[in-house]
Amino acid sequence: MGALGTNGVAVLLLIAFVQYQLRNGRPDNYYLKYRWQPSACNLPRFDGTDFLKRNRNKRIMFVGDSISLNQWQSLACMLMETTKPVPHYNSYRTGAVSTFTFLKHNVSVMFHRKAFLVDIVNKKYGRTVELKSIHGGEIWDQMFDGVNLFKNMDKLVAYEMALNTWARWVEEEVDPNKTKVFFQAISPLAARRKCMKATRPSTEATREPEAQVIVEKVLESMSTKSNKYYKARPKVEVHLLDITRMSQERDDAHPSKYVNQHTIDCLHWCLPGLPDTWNNLLYAHLIRLYTW
Ligand SMILES: *[C@@H]1O[C@H](CO)[C@@H](O)[C@H](O)[C@H]1NC(C)=O
Ligand SMILES: *[C@@H]1O[C@H](CO)[C@@H](O)[C@H](O)[C@H]1NC(C)=O
Repeated sequence: MGALGTNGVAVLLLIAFVQYQLRNGRPDNYYLKYRWQPSACNLPRFDGTDFLKRNRNKRIMFVGDSISLNQWQSLACMLMETTKPVPHYNSYRTGAVSTFTFLKHNVSVMFHRKAFLVDIVNKKYGRTVELKSIHGGEIWDQMFDGVNLFKNMDKLVAYEMALNTWARWVEEEVDPNKTKVFFQAISPLAARRKCMKATRPSTEATREPEAQVIVEKVLESMSTKSNKYYKARPKVEVHLLDITRMSQERDDAHPSKYVNQHTIDCLHWCLPGLPDTWNNLLYAHLIRLYTW
């Protein structure tokens, strides 16, 4: 492994988790062998060295829940392949942020755990999701929309409010000359009975998750010609990393019962596996968007 910074061990543990699938004796390995082929174009083949060259001196940060963690782990592993046979990276953790820095090109790939994007704070009445604010936090008992506290609010209504808060934050804080913003769409949860049985992708038609409809609506509302909330600021374009449909076909790609005896995981994804394809899509977006 590469030279470790402070708390490097914590990051390496996360990476060790990555390999659990193979260690825990999943008998089939078809799930490793699929590539995503869009019908109207070809995805560029992921080239880690090229990825690092193009992103020289840049930081790439994943912000979100354990699904973002999944994708970050995947990208870190894909890029680590480029440093073989001599490992050449640093890994360290500072507070809620874990980082891999690939030294040759000075590219940092970071993960900031912030499951709800908006804030969660301690109030007199319990842990509260602040649908109208973004700073830090996690785990909650209730929601606050700026006026009222709700114990039981429709989750999709809350999701839309929180996403709009996030959209406003992006338009206020992000300098599009310095920062590009991607929104990873909804990663589908598989039904247990399906993911436990599946060894091949499914071709069954599935409905678009309702949360995905909300993501599209909020991003669409941001796609005005100028900054939607702050007229004096430049417009920020948010790119949708549209992984939902392709992931809905991959009931076979969850860890399922191969995590440990006590868990059946139909939420996260095996690595190597589907999140590598998400990162290939990210790579394709980056190539299309920027000329270096
Ligand atoms: C490495 O990249 C960071 C930004 O990610 C930058 O602040 C720093 O100056 C770079 N270091 C060198 C030696 O160029
Ligand atoms: C961003 O870059 C463009 C083109 O280089 C420039 O015209 C504009 O002033 C820059 N905006 C900010 C906020 O720096």
